[in-house]
Amino acid sequence: MNNSVTLIDHPLIQHKLTLMRQKDTSTAKFRQLLGEISMLLAYEVTRSMPLEKVLIETPLASMDAPVLAGKKLVLISIMRAGQGILDGMLQLIPSARVGHIGLYRDPRTHIPVEYYFKVPDDVHGRDMLVVDPMLATGNSAVAAVYRLKETLPQSIKFVCLLAAPEGIAHFHEEHPDVPIFTAAIDEQLDDQGYILPGLGDAGDRMFGTK
Ligand code: URA
Repeated sequence: MNNSVTLIDHPLIQHKLTLMRQKDTSTAKFRQLLGEISMLLAYEVTRSMPLEKVLIETPLASMDAPVLAGKKLVLISIMRAGQGILDGMLQLIPSARVGHIGLYRDPRTHIPVEYYFKVPDDVHGRDMLVVDPMLATGNSAVAAVYRLKETLPQSIKFVCLLAAPEGIAHFHEEHPDVPIFTAAIDEQLDDQGYILPGLGDAGDRMFGTK
């Protein structure tokens, strides 16, 4: 389905997100809440994963029991803020494969420039979740997904915490085939490209760098 945006508005996620948004929330609490929300996001985003039956022995009987089918998922963190979502998701999906992509914005041209790219060799044919807490202008997400498509995964989903309408529109102009999953859609971007009302700089709040 093209241009799909799924708002994951579970009450636990909404409550925790409100705590994260508050400016007095500490770095430790912010990181903890992001980890918790990420597990809940992972739970929803993986809802459609295929299952197959395998024969097992319980202490009492044999049964055909469901297990996840196919190759293991690949989680891709867009550095550096994607790390917070990645860590939470790995608690729920510990056997997932992991990749990282690092992009910075050229101060002159404002074009994202790749400075790091490391994904597992065997991504081809796997389902991929690309994670970054903030879909703001969408520039990094768009560039990251173009680069990741070169590795020929079976599918890509983009997962974030907050999205701006401008970021969603930009992302889907370039990647209508990649569904977005987000815990909230905020009002707009400010002139620095921050999401309003938002939660500030996710990386700084997560790592205490400001
Ligand atoms: N990145 C952030 O960390 N926060 C925003 O509001 C926008 C981009």
